Amino acid sequence: MHDEGPEPPTTRAGDFEAFKQGLQDNDSRRELLTQHGRPFYVLVSQQFSGEEIETLCDTATAIRRLDRHRQGRDFLRSVLQGYRIMHLFAQPSTRTAQSFMAGADKLGALSKQVTDLTTSSFAKGESVEDSVRTLSSFFDAIVVRHSDDEFATRAAWALSRSGRPIPVISAGSGKSQHVTQSLLDIYTLRYSFSKRGGIHGKTVLIIGDIARNRAARSLAYLLTKFKQPRLFFACPEKYAPDPELRAYLEDHGIEVVIHDSLEHVLKERGRHIDAIYVTRLQQEWDSAGSGEKKLGADDAFILKPEYREFIRPDCVIMHPLPRVNELPVEWESHPGFVVWRQVRNGMWIRAALFASVWGADEEIRARARRLFLT
Ligand code: NCD
Repeated sequence: MHDEGPEPPTTRAGDFEAFKQGLQDNDSRRELLTQHGRPFYVLVSQQFSGEEIETLCDTATAIRRLDRHRQGRDFLRSVLQGYRIMHLFAQPSTRTAQSFMAGADKLGALSKQVTDLTTSSFAKGESVEDSVRTLSSFFDAIVVRHSDDEFATRAAWALSRSGRPIPVISAGSGKSQHVTQSLLDIYTLRYSFSKRGGIHGKTVLIIGDIARNRAARSLAYLLTKFKQPRLFFACPEKYAPDPELRAYLEDHGIEVVIHDSLEHVLKERGRHIDAIYVTRLQQEWDSAGSGEKKLGADDAFILKPEYREFIRPDCVIMHPLPRVNELPVEWESHPGFVVWRQVRNGMWIRAALFASVWGADEEIRARARRLFLT
């Protein structure tokens, strides 16, 4: 059992606007969100350094390997024994919620979930601040998914000013970020490219609703942590990457090319693409009566099975799921199709993140080394 709780970051930004402002800048972001190099509040992909991502992936692999053996499993279950985690999911979720809970379970922590906020005091008009301070009385961390881009940030800010700050991990923040999804995506890419020099210098094509897809946005931010990746986007013009994301990518020296024709980019550049990340059109954000009722992507942004001839057999095919029509099942026979591996990796990387938050990750990696002599 790991018996020391994480220490909260010491810097307390004053009001919420100051806290948000602090998240814009690399140094103050680290001060606000991490302590001794460990994540305490997990809100945006940019907060991780390349080295931290590598370590997190190594921890996920150690957990995955330990879990295959009785002795390893028994050890894992002792790591966070006695910890209690609240999973507050105010938006639909299958994979993310289940993999967070499965990851916590692997390490022996107890999970409680609230999905229907109408059964909680939010429905009586309680503020985010009061609600999370209440939860912090009973839990050691909060995992939160909410349609409001700023909910998790506000929760972290409120707790940082309280007498009992506990870690807050975003499990999807509105249209803005889905940090842990991008961590599992990077973990999957790293595995797929392990015999091809890693993620550095690879070309990734992201297809779909970039403006509103938090998984796509977080992945793009996280790719900046690797050396010279190239990023192609194929998206309807109205869902192109927003200026803030584009500026960030450009500032980090990432070559970005935006295409409005998927077929065209695949015909022209398909052989140079190392991974394709397909996303769903985020139609839940369309206003009622906007006329866009048919679910699924337009024909032009469906990765059609016949496009296979334009790409290499080793091109990695990914999707955060759920999918509608944009990634037809015929792709499952493509050698680079790793979507189901992504799902399972969600559990390993989230377990690794919990371990890292509570400072138990070194012990896990050391145990795996001893057991497997790697
Ligand atoms: C994504 C989400 O909820 O943001 N799904 C997920 O967490 N795996 C992507 C989506 O809903 O399209």
